[in-house]
Amino acid sequence: MGDSLNLHIEPLRSDHIQAAATMVAQRAMAMRRRFGGIRLTDPGEVSPLLQSFVGSDFAVVAEREGRLVGFIAAIPARLWGKPGGHVREYAFAANEPAVTRTLYAEVSARLAAADRYTHGVSLWADADDRVWHDFGFGRVVTEVVQELKPTPGRVTGIRMAEVEDALIVADLDYRLHRYLEAAPVFLPKRRAPDVGTVEHRITKGTAPVFIASDGSADIGYVALDPEAAESVALTGDEIVHCNGAFVVEDSRRDGTGSRLVAAASNWALETGYTALALDFETANTMAAAFWPKMGFTPVVHSLRRTFA
Ligand SMILES: CC(C)(COP(=O)(O)OP(=O)(O)OC[C@H]1O[C@@H](n2cnc3c(N)ncnc32)[C@H](O)[C@@H]1OP(=O)(O)O)[C@@H](O)C(=O)NCCC(=O)NCCS
Repeated sequence: MGDSLNLHIEPLRSDHIQAAATMVAQRAMAMRRRFGGIRLTDPGEVSPLLQSFVGSDFAVVAEREGRLVGFIAAIPARLWGKPGGHVREYAFAANEPAVTRTLYAEVSARLAAADRYTHGVSLWADADDRVWHDFGFGRVVTEVVQELKPTPGRVTGIRMAEVEDALIVADLDYRLHRYLEAAPVFLPKRRAPDVGTVEHRITKGTAPVFIASDGSADIGYVALDPEAAESVALTGDEIVHCNGAFVVEDSRRDGTGSRLVAAASNWALETGYTALALDFETANTMAAAFWPKMGFTPVVHSLRRTFA
């Protein structure tokens, strides 16, 4: 295959991996300006991830005069409840917008031929994503991270959940699920964890939950889990993830969320973590205002496009 841009498009092969992994690692390295703990900065770490796409129908490269100038590799997956394809942050690089256009045109045709009409792409947060918007993609999820610092003073009104708190945590988690299903976020319906699952989580001890109380009632929670990473860029033993945060409606904007994050961060620091990461839906206007205010920095934006 060739075109007027003098690009040659072909399936990703093993002999493309080194050049593709080098392009990804260079972009990851640039992201270290935002967060020093970012992964994927070593081509040797990226190569095995790309190797798994060799032979895939949804992985192609662009070459110009025999040199690799970009590649894209989509993972077939259900996205927002629909059959789709997801291009993760380590599975795309292009040295100019025209290459991105050509690569996505090719991979979208391949996904559509397999009846996969919902496409997701996770891009480094410093990427110029206009070329994706031109295809009809829009931002849906932002992943953020923060280096942990001790909170000065004592954090009051927060306790770490014990097993007898499982019902309270399950109830707050249930309310978070219902909140995210409603306007303006409209996440597809998911079952919230039942009390037994929450009890198991608390007993395990590695994924703690923090509960806020106003003296008479429990009004919010924050949950941490070292294994809840979304992007590979934010995985690693030193990063813990927040996979639940909720304050009841009548108690918001009163500093409860901030105190929960402070207590969770203090626990994480004492446990030996150096950073806290999480993702939020960009349509969740409260989260989009709250997390940056807490000092979190975007690392990856995920964009979605659906057509039928
Ligand atoms: C996000 C949430 C946990 C924040 O809890 P909170 O107790 O209201 O947070 P705080 O009072 O500590 O807010 C700290 C700062 O964040 C910012 N902020 C929080 N909510 C905001 C909002 N709705 N609009 C604008 N800024 C907001 C403000 O700067 C605020 O400081 P200020 O009130 O002095 O201006 C809460 O709004 C919530 O439960 N939302 C629904 C569930 C949810 O979105 N969870 C997060 C999923 S990722």
